[in-house]
Formats: sequence, C-alpha cells, structure tokens
Amino acid sequence: MKKIFLTPADNPTTFTGRLLFLLLAGLLIRTDVCAQELTGRWATYGKEMWNGHREQAVIVLKQSGNSITGSFESLTGKTMVTGTIGGNHFEIFAWDHHKPALVGDLVKSELHGTMFGRPFVARAALPQDEIPAVEYIAPPPLHVVPYNGLARTPPMGWNSWNHFGEDVNEADIRAAADALVSSGMRDAGYNYVNIDGTWEGNRDREGSLVPNKKFGDIAALADYVHSRGLKIGIYSSPGQYDCAGYPTSYAHERQDADSFAKWGIDYLKYDWCSAEKIYRDDQIQAVYQRMGDALTATGRPIVYSLCEYGKEKVQTCGAKVGGNLWRTTDDIRDSWSSMIANLEKQAPFAPDAGPGHWNDPDMLEIGNGGMTGDEYRTQMSLWSLVAAPLLAGNDLQTMTNETRSILLNNEVIAIDQDLLGKQAIPYRKGDLETWIKPLADGGAAVGVVNLGSATRTTTIRASDLRLPAVMTHARNLWAHEEVQFVGGTYSAAVAPHATLLLRVFVAPDPVVRREASSAQ
Ligand code: GLA
Repeated sequence: MKKIFLTPADNPTTFTGRLLFLLLAGLLIRTDVCAQELTGRWATYGKEMWNGHREQAVIVLKQSGNSITGSFESLTGKTMVTGTIGGNHFEIFAWDHHKPALVGDLVKSELHGTMFGRPFVARAALPQDEIPAVEYIAPPPLHVVPYNGLARTPPMGWNSWNHFGEDVNEADIRAAADALVSSGMRDAGYNYVNIDGTWEGNRDREGSLVPNKKFGDIAALADYVHSRGLKIGIYSSPGQYDCAGYPTSYAHERQDADSFAKWGIDYLKYDWCSAEKIYRDDQIQAVYQRMGDALTATGRPIVYSLCEYGKEKVQTCGAKVGGNLWRTTDDIRDSWSSMIANLEKQAPFAPDAGPGHWNDPDMLEIGNGGMTGDEYRTQMSLWSLVAAPLLAGNDLQTMTNETRSILLNNEVIAIDQDLLGKQAIPYRKGDLETWIKPLADGGAAVGVVNLGSATRTTTIRASDLRLPAVMTHARNLWAHEEVQFVGGTYSAAVAPHATLLLRVFVAPDPVVRREASSAQ
C-alpha cells in the first residue's frame, strides 16, 4: 500500500475541512487500491497430469498506473510479460506481442479469465505454490562425440505428437506399430515408432524415470514393437520437465540413457523445452553433448534426434554432439503456411545435411486434415527433396486411401532415401519455386511447387539440372508415368499449392557410381 503523507496545511480542524479531507482521503485510498491490486505473486493451477501432479504457474505482476510488467513462470518455462489494466480488466502479453496470453478481470482479489486460451483462476501465491528453484549443473567442456554410424539415410517412421499430442497412450503406440505393418508402411521404410512427450511419470527411489499411468512397462512395449520388425523411439529433454511439464533428464542423463538402452529403445528425441530455464542458448551444444555422450556410453545404437528449434546454428554443431538429425524450425502445424515456412528455412542449410546427419523441418502432417491432397503431396515431395526425416504424424488406423497413397509413394520415398544424401537447393521465379536434388545414380529429382493461387505453367530445362551424363528418360513421380523432354525441355501446368515432381535418369557414369558407393 502506498502511504498517504499529511502536511500541516492538510490538517483537518474544521467540519468542512474534515469532510473535504475524508472525501479526498477516500478518493486517494480507492485509487490506490485499484492501482495496486494486481501487484503481487499469483498462483494458478491447471489440469491434473497423468503422473498425478497438477499443472502450475506463478504470475508475478507489478502494476504502475495502467501498465503492468512482470513474469510468468511454469514448470516448463519462464517469460517476461507486459500488459495494461483498465478498471478491473487486464490484458497481459507474453511471447506474442499481438495476442494477449492472459485476459481477464480482477474479481474479489482473484484473477479470472483465460490463459493461453484456456480458462484460469489465480489467487495470491503462498510459499508452497512457488516453482522450486533448480540447482545449476555447469555444462561440460566441448568435445566431439563420435558418430554412431546410424541414419545413413533420413530416418523414417511415425511419431505420436502431431495427431495424439498429450493424449497418447500405450495402446495407441501398439496400434501404430500394427498399422505400420498392415498398411505396408514398414516395408516401404517407415520403421521407427516414436513415443513423443507425456509418457513420463515420476522418478522411483533409485532415481529412475518410470512411465506414467498411460503406459505400462516400456520394455514390454519395446519387445512388442520389435516383434513386428520395427524399432521404437522415446522422448526426453535436457531440462527438468518436457514441454508439457513431465519430468525429463536434467541431472539424470546417464541414468536415463541407461534405462532407455535397457528397455530396448532405438531412437531418442531430445527436446530443449524447460532447459531454457537453466541454460543460456550458447550452452546448448554442451548440454546436448552430455546426452550424446550418455547414449554412446550405453553401447546401444540409438538414433539421436535434437529438438531445439534451430537455435544457435544447430546445423553446424548437431553432428558434433552425436546428433543424427536436428530440428531447424519451430513446431510445424497442419497448415499450408506453417508447412511451407518450415520448408523454406531449410535452403541455407543444404551443405550441412548428409548421410548420418540431417536437417529436420519437423514431422509430416499428411493425413491430419488441415491441408488439401495437393498440399500434402507437396509436403511429401519437398521433404523428400530436402532429404528430411519422414516421420508420419497422422492416425495410421484411420488413413484414407489418398493419405495412404501419398505416404506410400515408393518413387518419392526413393528420392528422400537416396544414398548420396544431398539436400535440394531452390530457385524461385514468380510463384514457381524449383528444387533440384542430385541423386546417387547421377540423375536428379526436380520439384516445382506452385506457391501462388493460380495455375501456372513451368518449363524444366535439362541443362539447368547440371547432369553429369546424358539424360536417358524422366518420370513424373506422382502420375507414375514417363514424361518426354522435347528439345531439352519439359513443360507442364502446376495447380496452386501442388508440386510437379520428376526424376530424371542419365546414362550410367562410372564417376558418379564411385561417389554413390563411397557414401554408403
Ligand atoms: C515441442 C516439440 C514438439 C513436441 C512437443 C511435445 O513443442 O517441438 O515436436 O515434441 O514439444 O510437448
């Protein structure tokens, strides 16, 4: 409470003076109360999690007039906030400066409203509501983690996140494994079944991380997946919690890597999430190296997938920490704009991709319903041209024939899995963007995506493909038919958001054959 100082001249000695004083004081006190009520530490709790804990956050606010500053801290992150209050209504912004993160009203000394779009109530925080401080463990000095020999071609498989999110459970993973087999996807190369976040429970008395009640015995689940001729992936974070607030590997890297190896895990996605509360971005390499070393120490071949959203030029240090693939972008969403934005960011990173270490523009959204068939064919085409991991993210049990035909296009998969491991480079002319990928047999894949909203005609010139030998023939990989180049060119119409994808073959060339076999 701001103090009200009285000067001698204010001293109310007369009745009118006293009345005036009371009115003035009343006004001052009211203004003061309104101006101060948001200042403080507020605690809010969300839904009960699968490990028996509840989501929690502490909102620290300081009000000055109509302006608000402060911070928002949950188990998974902390961010500064700014906002305004008018009357009892507040709007508080966090990362997004256009859309308020917290909107609501001050009601009887509580905050009521929506937080990141979900209803919330916050009350004055008590000591037991505070987010526990984390003991800092300095990251190790840098060194190079030896390559584990895995992922000679971009990893393929399925991941639970894009479709199931936090609702994934063990039955979903078993069903996905079954569907990979019955759909023919396993035989087409999709061989990893990856559990994303929210499988984690708590740590037992020995400090080992055990799954939450959505999952039973992970080793038994791994056995099940392996028995179907597949491999299994799991997820953790270098922070204390994953992005949904479940415990992860901070201070337990060796122990967790040992558990993963003991359970029979073949792939680890390691997601930065709450590590940002502990480490600066310039410490990311060392922090990821720690888990790279821990995986190596297990002696089990485990694909190491880095997920730190492309911070700190991960493409230049991902392989040094033992990474086989690294996310280069924020999370993909099931929309054309998100998918294309993630793809476009890959262009400068082409030199950093190659057998054993891949740029990852995030998982496939094919079949999730937010894009058209042409747009999903474009995702499959472009991901293959940039040699991206092909991790399906849809519900494999309810796939339409169209989804199945996109994911199972063997001619397109062959472009992604080409043993030369080159990432395509784009050039753009108007709405048409052309990506050319050299292939191990000396030929090339060429994709022309129409980024605009009207159908356009493209002309592909064989001379632009820089082929090392004479072109023999070409195929349209979506129409599954031969196409004819006339006078060294091929022209075709490309519908809005569709991709024309060709594979061009050349006469056998001994030099190219040598390059391809040395890449194996
Ligand atoms: C991050 C990752 C996503 C997914 C979620 C899980 O956002 O980028 O791919 O793993 O966490 O919480």
